[in-house]
Amino acid sequence: MKICCLGAGYVGGPTMAMIAHKCPQITVTVADINEARIAAWNSDELPVFEPGLDEVVKSARGKNLFFTTDKVAAIREADIIFVSVGTPTKTYGVDAGRAADLKFVELCARDIAEHSDNSKIVVEKSTIPVRTAESLKAVLNANSNDGISFQVLSNPEFLAEGTAIEDLNDPDRVLIGGEETPEGKEAMETLASVYATWISRDKIILTNLWSSELSKLVANAFLAQRISSINSISALCEATGANVDEVASAIGKDSRIGPKFLKASVGFGGSCFQKDLLNLVYLCEHFGLPEVASYWRNVIGMNDWQKRRFSTKIINSLFNTVNGKRIAFLGFAFKKDTNDTRESPAIYVGRDLLEEEANLAIYDPKVTPDQMKLDLGAKVETDLGSKLEICTNAYDAAKGAHALAILTEWDEFKDLDYQRIYDSMMKPAFVFDGRNIANRKELVDIGFEVYAVGR
Ligand code: UDX
Ligand code: UDX
Repeated sequence: MKICCLGAGYVGGPTMAMIAHKCPQITVTVADINEARIAAWNSDELPVFEPGLDEVVKSARGKNLFFTTDKVAAIREADIIFVSVGTPTKTYGVDAGRAADLKFVELCARDIAEHSDNSKIVVEKSTIPVRTAESLKAVLNANSNDGISFQVLSNPEFLAEGTAIEDLNDPDRVLIGGEETPEGKEAMETLASVYATWISRDKIILTNLWSSELSKLVANAFLAQRISSINSISALCEATGANVDEVASAIGKDSRIGPKFLKASVGFGGSCFQKDLLNLVYLCEHFGLPEVASYWRNVIGMNDWQKRRFSTKIINSLFNTVNGKRIAFLGFAFKKDTNDTRESPAIYVGRDLLEEEANLAIYDPKVTPDQMKLDLGAKVETDLGSKLEICTNAYDAAKGAHALAILTEWDEFKDLDYQRIYDSMMKPAFVFDGRNIANRKELVDIGFEVYAVGR
């Protein structure tokens, strides 16, 4: 069997590497239009940082795992084609800022139809609005060569960045949606048999196409909703003297609620939550359900408020002005153990502070300087040249700073020499802990003014 994947991003790359690693009998080819990205997948410096990914890639690369820019050859040879290209929120035209931009997915469908000489299974891996499979099928069938047919399956990815390898190795479930025809069922079985090589059959769920597509959106919406819920309570905790971590721990002990995804923070980021919530809102409006749309829209609203509340807290605490003051950012990625910055709260807090004429000194263990400049440059008009310093360690970032803002929960930030940091900062020295990871008592004893979310 031959598998190909279009799109070598955070999802396509690790997912295909795991399939190749677990199934030596299957040849897996990952194709991407981005030459630099493919070159990186073929080098020692992978384009995606994920704990454990290097080993998985190295175990299969060159044997049954290949990265290429030659999508035509990859499509032609494959029995199963995964579509894992980006589906960002539209930035132009009708429904900009709300609907998903499906142009890359459609281009893939056209490529597949044009270059296929035999029937194939096409798997939607990208998160897409419900009923996209139908459009995919229409494009595939309208453009296919004679005698060729396509089965479209939905197989959403539930991996989280930073734990992608664990999640792929031992997922809670694998969801496969397909048509309820004999051909559809056969295609679902074929894909299920690939996963069944290493995942127990009772975790592989077969549903109809629309249930599968919708489940992905709903899973992300529920997860995001928990974070917005606890973040809303963090504000109440600050007002009342309760401690949000203690509240989260107490409610999480209720087995009906459970302990996960109750960590108050500066706000959620990542490529999926906001996009999928917007998708869900759009869908509800489209189907004439404005109350449902507004319910889910508020989950995003609460997240925007939480990010803004954090930057406002910094500005207000620093005597209502950050103009010309150096603010050190510890962390820029949207969560620890990834180099991904998409929708990272650090970008929004950085934007707010730059608009107030602050100077930023940023340290993140994995995000490249170019990426930080790109992200912040896209948000503010000002010339970043003199406003932004990117540092190679936390101590350099803190030197001469008025405040330290912890934006990502990297483990190394727990064990810093905060006395050394304090000694090098302007006084009064502030810490704004957006992830509640620092030891508050230790910081207060050193002499810091400390703000931690929800405490
Ligand atoms: C994935 C899914 O595709 C997205 O829908 C989901 O919500 C999140 O995860 P991700 O892998 O994180 O996206 O995206 P990204 O890292 O941007 O990778 C997409 C890749 O597709 C890029 O490398 C891009 O170059 C490639 N691409 C895009 C193509 O190869 N062809 C195209 O036409 C467009
Ligand atoms: C998410 C989903 O978890 C995953 O199933 C889906 O496939 C893709 O989207 P991801 O965005 O990679 O994964 O990371 P996740 O761990 O869900 O974190 C998202 C954001 O929420 C991060 O910014 C994280 O810091 C934040 N978060 C998470 C909190 O603020 N509090 C929490 O309790 C959990």
